[in-house]
Amino acid sequence: MDYKSLKTNTVVNKVDVYLIGVFTDKKLLHTGKSVIKSNIELAKKCFVKNNFTGDIGDHRTIDDLENNVQILFFGLGKKEKFCPLNLNRSIKGIMKKVNKTNAVKISVNVQNIISKTSNITCQLLISYLEDSFYKYTFKKEKSISKLRFCNLVSNNTIPNKVLRQNVSNGKSIANGVRLAKDLGNIPPNICNPTFLSNEALKLKKINKALKITVINETKMKSMGMGSLLSVSQGSKQPAKLVTIEYMPLRNKQPIVLVGKGITFDTGGISLKPSPNMDEMKYDMSGAGSVLGTMRALAEMNVKKNVVGVIACAENMPGSQATRPGDVVKSMSGITIEILNTDAEGRLVLCDALTYSQKFNPKYIIDMATLTGACLVGLGKYPSGLFSNNNKLAELIKKSAEMTGDRVWQLPLYDDYFEELKTNFADIQNIGGRYGGAITAAAFLAKFTQDMKWAHLDIAGTAWEVGENKGSTGRPVSLLVDFVLSN
Ligand code: BES
Ligand code: ZN
Ligand code: ZN
Repeated sequence: MDYKSLKTNTVVNKVDVYLIGVFTDKKLLHTGKSVIKSNIELAKKCFVKNNFTGDIGDHRTIDDLENNVQILFFGLGKKEKFCPLNLNRSIKGIMKKVNKTNAVKISVNVQNIISKTSNITCQLLISYLEDSFYKYTFKKEKSISKLRFCNLVSNNTIPNKVLRQNVSNGKSIANGVRLAKDLGNIPPNICNPTFLSNEALKLKKINKALKITVINETKMKSMGMGSLLSVSQGSKQPAKLVTIEYMPLRNKQPIVLVGKGITFDTGGISLKPSPNMDEMKYDMSGAGSVLGTMRALAEMNVKKNVVGVIACAENMPGSQATRPGDVVKSMSGITIEILNTDAEGRLVLCDALTYSQKFNPKYIIDMATLTGACLVGLGKYPSGLFSNNNKLAELIKKSAEMTGDRVWQLPLYDDYFEELKTNFADIQNIGGRYGGAITAAAFLAKFTQDMKWAHLDIAGTAWEVGENKGSTGRPVSLLVDFVLSN
């Protein structure tokens, strides 16, 4: 959809639907002159007569016959509780209705959701609107929505330049989220490690300043990445380690984003049970979120140094597959006894994290659909957050709050590391029966001791199941905000 920022007065009569968010206080001051007085009176009467509450999900329509436009008031919930998450809920609900109509052109009044200090909400709005008619296009199905144009309307308190910038950044974030969603949804016979590395190379079209390097298995072998290679050896598909460097600034340490890119996780010889195994095509969502974030940042031309690293492999139980009990040597020199070949994410990530040290990261954050235990413990709403640095953890929490892309921190006590001890190597790749998300993170922490590192376990948040089954594109919006703010 095409977006434009507009000042009040100029839009009402040129669109099919004019959307106005209203809090539970039902005040309409923010609509300024864009809604003529008689409409305000009409709306107030309508609110009273039809018991409009302003709660999220509630909406009322009035017809402005004079200007030939429908004015659609939708609830934003309590003003004190307003946050990106609530905005997302409101937009999702109301757009479900708008998308079913014949409306082609809409306006959204953003006056009360934009603040002078933070622009991210306005940018996220575009992402939420785009999300409302996202369709995985493989089926070549027509979009249900006829929408093509959207005006974001505000009054004069926000400079037009700022609003225009928000529109453009919002579109870039939405593009990044869409890329992450598409990559997750593509079937695993197409989206294999080579496909992902080609997708990374395609990013060059977005911004020529990107430097993309694809490391193949021969090179990995020469660099001693025995752990990463132990995962792909049971598959016909060769592993790929891809780096995407975006370094517009000189002599500044980059933020490094590392993603788990298991394009399908059968479990390997420690084979997974059949039910829902198809969902393991989403096991590359960490890598997808890195590509989506890099796309958004490169499109925005941000003046920040960022490097994306994706560790791509397919975990299959072929005749050359790793056996439980095998011992491999990682790039760091640490030897690993592989007791469960289904704990493969940490095996590809540890070598990717060691390799990433060469970029001398300011911060390093990895994203991975790492453990079913994280999903069991936290459910599907927050991603699990782990870090060896309190300041970094706080900064990530702040970005999570700003974007509604929630995280919940879990501890990394010394005790968990004890569970990784074995008689046959430096460490083993699984912990005991309990706290599986944490022992997995503890494993990664062994490889990041010299860096300010955080890990996001996105096993519960990267995709939805059931009726809305599909990739969510999380945590792209969190990562974009993190890079922009740090
Ligand atoms: N990709 C899975 C984790 C996963 C499972 C994410 C279900 C989302 C839904 C990961 O590779 C895995 O299989 N982890 C094992 C670790 C265990 C063997 C220690 C798990 O969580 O069961
Ligand atoms: Zn696994
Ligand atoms: Zn996995």
